[in-house]
Amino acid sequence: MSAPIVTSLDELRRATQAWRRAGQRVGVVPTMGALHDGHLSLVRAAKAECDRVIVTLFVNPRQFNSAEDYDKYPRTELADAELLGPLGIDALFVPDGAQVYPPGHATTVSVSGITDTLEGAHRPGHFDGVATVVTMLFNMTQADRAYFGEKDWQQLQLVRRLVADLKLPVEIVGCPTVRADDGLAMSSRNQRLSVTARQQARALPEALLAAAAAIGSGANVDDVLTQTRETLAQNGIGPVEYIELRDSESLRPPRPCHPRRLLVAAWLDGVRLIDNVEVPPAN
Ligand code: PAJ
Repeated sequence: MSAPIVTSLDELRRATQAWRRAGQRVGVVPTMGALHDGHLSLVRAAKAECDRVIVTLFVNPRQFNSAEDYDKYPRTELADAELLGPLGIDALFVPDGAQVYPPGHATTVSVSGITDTLEGAHRPGHFDGVATVVTMLFNMTQADRAYFGEKDWQQLQLVRRLVADLKLPVEIVGCPTVRADDGLAMSSRNQRLSVTARQQARALPEALLAAAAAIGSGANVDDVLTQTRETLAQNGIGPVEYIELRDSESLRPPRPCHPRRLLVAAWLDGVRLIDNVEVPPAN
């Protein structure tokens, strides 16, 4: 059986109001569809911790940098509903574009600082699109908890900042990155890789993990990052948009004795891949 699809905000609100009156805890998993095991891990986490679970599916035009990327984004709504069926969610909320951005919509939510760098620097306006839609999805679903993947590490930190700054009554839960057997982080965009490129792609997580281990054991960061760029190029991965060691929370340059994260964005076969890993504390 497929998950029940809800398209009307009024209908969703009636359901969530009834659940909340009954004292039930509501979880939401925001997605853009084309679901894979990474998304499903968030849904399972939500199911384990909440009485009711809503998955949202909305391909948000405001967070894409090109019309081409937006048009090419996979849309597999019915297959998504099928995939969610066995997980027993309460609603797959699929609002239409006019409901989310009706004519005259004029409000943008913008989080400064954390969004200036990395993804934010390479994808102008992307995080404004994310912050705006996520705020709306929280308000539409009235969820108590919202689940996000560490795969999009900077997005997760942005959402935490947004919720803290606007005092939104939702608890953010981060879930670990789910990887394919060869280590590549699952992503809806991986479908666009050719067979050969898909085989080459494993070099990205391998190089990232090797770099994190080297930095953790005290190697010079600049040397490691230069070497990693070379390794990626030798494996046919490039251009590399960035590979950076950062403070895990602020995404600024790392501070002594604070958790650090190594983040990368690189192109392969016309597909932009991102990944990130924790860096072990320096000895
Ligand atoms: P989307 O790319 O569909 O991802 C939805 C959620 O799934 C995000 O929280 C993302 O981090 C998580 N996710 C994706 N791949 C994952 C993986 N391999 N392991 C674990 N989690 C993974 O991110 C978005 O959509 C949008 O920006 C959204 C938040 C829905 C706003 O439009």
